[in-house]
Amino acid sequence: MKKQPIGVFDSGLGGLTILDALRRELPREDLIYFGDTANVPYGSKSKVAVTKFSLAIGRFLQSQGVKLIVVACNTASAQALPQLRRQLSVPVMGVIEPGAEKAARTTRNGHIAVLGTEGTVKSGAYVKALLKRRPQARVFQQACPLFVPLVEENWTAKPAAELIAREYLAPVCQSGADTVILGCTHYPVLKPVLAKILGPQITLVDSASAVAEAVQRFLTRRGQAAAGGRGRVTVFASDDPARFKRLAASLLAEQIATVKLKKLDL
Ligand code: DGL
Repeated sequence: MKKQPIGVFDSGLGGLTILDALRRELPREDLIYFGDTANVPYGSKSKVAVTKFSLAIGRFLQSQGVKLIVVACNTASAQALPQLRRQLSVPVMGVIEPGAEKAARTTRNGHIAVLGTEGTVKSGAYVKALLKRRPQARVFQQACPLFVPLVEENWTAKPAAELIAREYLAPVCQSGADTVILGCTHYPVLKPVLAKILGPQITLVDSASAVAEAVQRFLTRRGQAAAGGRGRVTVFASDDPARFKRLAASLLAEQIATVKLKKLDL
């Protein structure tokens, strides 16, 4: 078990922010990443579609002998986690619970805002996870659909990014939240511009590091953490692996050697 890889998947590139955190926190682990570039974006798709894609990826990762699957995609975590856990025989961890846990511990005034895709916001998964931990919490949600293309275009330092972020964040600033969850794989890349608009009194909770810590606790508890050596990273994409590799450079600290094409059996 210790030597088996950890499977990580996302609708596309964004989950590399989670992979990056896992590499930093758990450098000994072998990681298999699957980016569903053929079906991205998940954020604007139905729960039925997101669940179908997630199950196909889960089955593929399971066939690769992974010891744990990390659903790096917030939308898939919000919409498909129960089905994945029911239908797969390996443990499955999502990003919502670790992110909510961290935010519930961070807030001082009990007002939390969640930024996410339309799918994540509609599911109410963060609200549920936060209220489970802090029943008196006030949770404000804001969908930010234009953030994903901004990140994928590498436009995060352009004036357009700040203009768009100001529109989305105006109601967040008025909500009284002292803690804001970056509830989407891509949003940590926008952290500098979001922090500038929200100001120093608001804490940004990035679920990537929370997930990496949760994975570490999980493996240690089960005695399944890899021992010794530096782990390998294997990357699959369901479409255009060359484009994936090119864009990955802006999200991942290390270079990916190859991205293999793997079409999903839907
Ligand atoms: N990975 C998605 C998420 O974290 C964002 C991109 C998409 O819409 O597929 O919600």
